[in-house]
Amino acid sequence: MSNTRPVLAARRVSFDWADTPLHWVPGDPFTTHTINVLHLLLPAGERWFVQVYQQVLPHITDEELRADVIGFIGQEAVHAAAHDEVLPQLRRLGLDPTPYTAQVDWLFGKLLGDRTLPPGRASRWWLWERVALIAAIEHHTAFLGDWVLNAKELDRCGADPTMLDLLRWHGAEEVEHRSVAFELFQHVDGSYRRRARTWATAFSALVFLWQRGTRFFLANDPTLTGGRASLAQYYGAGRRGVLPALPDVLRSGPRYLSRGYHPRDEGDTAQALAYLATSPGANPTDRTDRTDRVEGGR
Ligand SMILES: [Fe+2]
Ligand SMILES: [Fe+2]
Repeated sequence: MSNTRPVLAARRVSFDWADTPLHWVPGDPFTTHTINVLHLLLPAGERWFVQVYQQVLPHITDEELRADVIGFIGQEAVHAAAHDEVLPQLRRLGLDPTPYTAQVDWLFGKLLGDRTLPPGRASRWWLWERVALIAAIEHHTAFLGDWVLNAKELDRCGADPTMLDLLRWHGAEEVEHRSVAFELFQHVDGSYRRRARTWATAFSALVFLWQRGTRFFLANDPTLTGGRASLAQYYGAGRRGVLPALPDVLRSGPRYLSRGYHPRDEGDTAQALAYLATSPGANPTDRTDRTDRVEGGR
């Protein structure tokens, strides 16, 4: 493990959604809802990370890595809770996400959840498979975190400052802990074939879930009639800089598959820590905020 990385720990956060409009990227429901898919996927997905990693802890023989994994678990638990808190605001604005989140809960709780397997090889195979899937997903969350920290066009177009802060606080912590999942995978297994196979699965699933989530939001947005999503819209938003550019997304995957890959080469830790030092949500004036209970409960 690198000695240059500070000790990972969850930060207390507080976000007030009362003034966030439905289309928090003004006049751009497509971009708004494409990014909103994060609020559908992350609560269940990041709690699944936590559940899997708690099972991996006894297999970690490197104390520094164990400390990082514990810090990672704390950060992901707070991320899940913070995104969860956006959902009531969406409901208040007339957009009920329950039909979609029920499917996501099934995916992470049942399909990717614990299975009744005999102890030994079979149960270890399923655990390592999930550790590898998380490493692949974390490659993409680090990519998105780095993108949103640098997405100046979202500021220029007047995006809601609270939503931007949520995304940048989360993105900055994704950049901060970007090496943990890969190093854990290398520590317990590290098979290249497993890395490639699980990346292909994770990337395909993310693309599928993301376009489906965007379509769900656009179809159920009470202010739109016949809201639709298309690859051309995504391409245009990427060119404008309000979403990650499609060529950058497509280039990011193969980097994970290169033999010399290490997440330290993705993103900028100093930039992430600088954002975290000034993020309004991560530096709340009221220290008795609601995510205290998430930290206390992990
Ligand atoms: Fe996260
Ligand atoms: Fe993460």
